[in-house]
Amino acid sequence: MPEWQDHFREAAPCLDVRCWNDPGVNAPDVRYALVWAPEPGRLAQLPNLRLILSSGAGVDHITADPGWPRHVGIVRMGGAETVQLMGEYVCLGALSLLRGMKRIVDAQAARRWDNFETPRPATATRAGVMGLGNLGARAAEMLRDLGFVTAGWSRGRKSIAGIKCFAGATELDAFLARTDILVCLLPDTPDTSGVLCAPTLAKLPRGAAVVNAGRGGHVVLPDLLDALDAGHLSGAFLDVFDQEPLPPEHPVWTHPKVIVTPHVASLPSRRARARYVADAIAAFERGEAPPNLYDPARGY
Ligand code: NDP
Ligand code: OXD
Repeated sequence: MPEWQDHFREAAPCLDVRCWNDPGVNAPDVRYALVWAPEPGRLAQLPNLRLILSSGAGVDHITADPGWPRHVGIVRMGGAETVQLMGEYVCLGALSLLRGMKRIVDAQAARRWDNFETPRPATATRAGVMGLGNLGARAAEMLRDLGFVTAGWSRGRKSIAGIKCFAGATELDAFLARTDILVCLLPDTPDTSGVLCAPTLAKLPRGAAVVNAGRGGHVVLPDLLDALDAGHLSGAFLDVFDQEPLPPEHPVWTHPKVIVTPHVASLPSRRARARYVADAIAAFERGEAPPNLYDPARGY
């Protein structure tokens, strides 16, 4: 908390920033709440709340509370650092899958000199990004700049230089059929839940691999593990899970073709998040629309 307060003092000296559980806080005085997964019912106890600021880009941890105050806007985390970190993570995942990083790390753990050829360069590999929003569009550009033959898929059609853009449910199959490394950066909505299930994975070319940095609910894990075990998929790089922390007994921890990262794809510094939140509040107080407002009708 003192660290957050220091960053807020620097970004917005006029804001009085208190801890969520500070017993000295009078609920009617609270105007803004910066939260990740507030306890159900807590936000509804703040009668004069003007804006909810999500410490993450996803808001599913907030809207999971049946009592979240629907008349209050939710600002999703964003900003340059959030976007850059996610792009770096996606490139790390794609290159790790392409270069057999799991095999290399396992060989090191066994002190085995496992020298092998790289199957193909990025320039002969087709990457495909599901979700071309704040994070996905930039991640796709960074993959493109590494040389990957890159495409993207979103609800509405996008136009991004050097990236083939597919749109809507009717173009999903064509997108999948041309994708060797599939990256999921979708939001969690009823339409996207379980999108990476057996029928979807079967439409990827044999030997394809998956990076998931969206939400755990996008992947049907038993289907993914079956596709890996059957050899249809060659690897997976997974950052998000239905249950976090991932329980120690979960089979993905030890799967020979899976790299697990603990929801770290894009975790910007507190300084960057404090600056983003301070700017969003300032815009709101000037009567402007804050950035990255959650749209309940779209679900993201
Ligand atoms: P945005 O809302 O900016 O972008 C979402 C994208 O998904 C848009 O391109 C949207 O299409 C597309 N989309 C939504 N629904 C569908 C659908 N049914 N079919 C096809 N495309 C769809 O979100 P962000 O880029 O900011 O974040 C994306 C997600 O990344 C977050 O919701 C969160 O779950 C995850 N995330 C994970 C982090 C991590 O550390 N692992 C960190 C931050 C975010 P359109 O453009 O047409 O609206
Ligand atoms: C998220 C985040 O939404 O970490 O996952 O920002």
